[in-house]
Amino acid sequence: MVADAHAARVRQIFSNIARRYDLFNALSSFGIYRSWLARTARAAACTPADRVLDVAGGTGDVAFELARRCPPASIELTDFTPEMLEVARERIAAGAARGVDVGVREVDAHNLPYTDGSFTMVTCAYGLRNFSDRTRAMREAARVLVPGGRYVVLEFATPPWAPWRALYGWYLGHMIPLIGGVLCGDRSGFEYLRDSIRGFPPQEVICDELRRSGFSAVSYRNCTGGIAAVYTAVK
Ligand SMILES: C[S@@+](CC[C@H](N)C(=O)[O-])C[C@H]1O[C@@H](n2cnc3c(N)ncnc32)[C@H](O)[C@@H]1O
Repeated sequence: MVADAHAARVRQIFSNIARRYDLFNALSSFGIYRSWLARTARAAACTPADRVLDVAGGTGDVAFELARRCPPASIELTDFTPEMLEVARERIAAGAARGVDVGVREVDAHNLPYTDGSFTMVTCAYGLRNFSDRTRAMREAARVLVPGGRYVVLEFATPPWAPWRALYGWYLGHMIPLIGGVLCGDRSGFEYLRDSIRGFPPQEVICDELRRSGFSAVSYRNCTGGIAAVYTAVK
């Protein structure tokens, strides 16, 4: 399934940190990531008729937030790291799906094993910056959506206000590898995560890529002064 060295490395990192991933998120963001998840669910605003595909769904945060706030008919929770999905399965067993039909499947975002127009919504949180070929993953998301279907993306972003950007840059550079190293014993994995956030293009570039990948009505909203952004786009 993993075709290139970058993907193999990403998969190895998430396989190593899967068991501590949720704790790392909570601590490293001082809990703020929960408000970004809520913003993502509000942007998704699923209805009971929606069939959702969550790409790079990891341990299931987005899927379970949707199930809690705006339950759709079904959610296909996918990721290419089995250890992350194993945690998601345990959370489902503990009741996190809240009665929503959540299927869990090992899937590479670059080759979605679904026929065209299978879903009314695709979600992807913190996945884009890890993909080997971001626009290919965007085109795959467009392909499996019905016409009029929506793509909702949460990703780290570039704060527009320079002093905030500098402060955040310092935190990212020093604290993320430190917290990750202490919690997960994998400092180099968190140096990769830091670099993937630093190297990720600004919001307008992502909007252009979405348009070129087959989406219209592309927009975004910054979270916490632009540390993250929620993008919405329509096929
Ligand atoms: C930072 S985690 C985000 C997980 C989850 N969406 C969340 O909000 O917590 C990134 C996830 O992307 C997955 N991933 C990276 N590249 C992928 C790919 N090509 N196909 C599928 N999943 C991928 C990793 O396995 C990891 O679980």
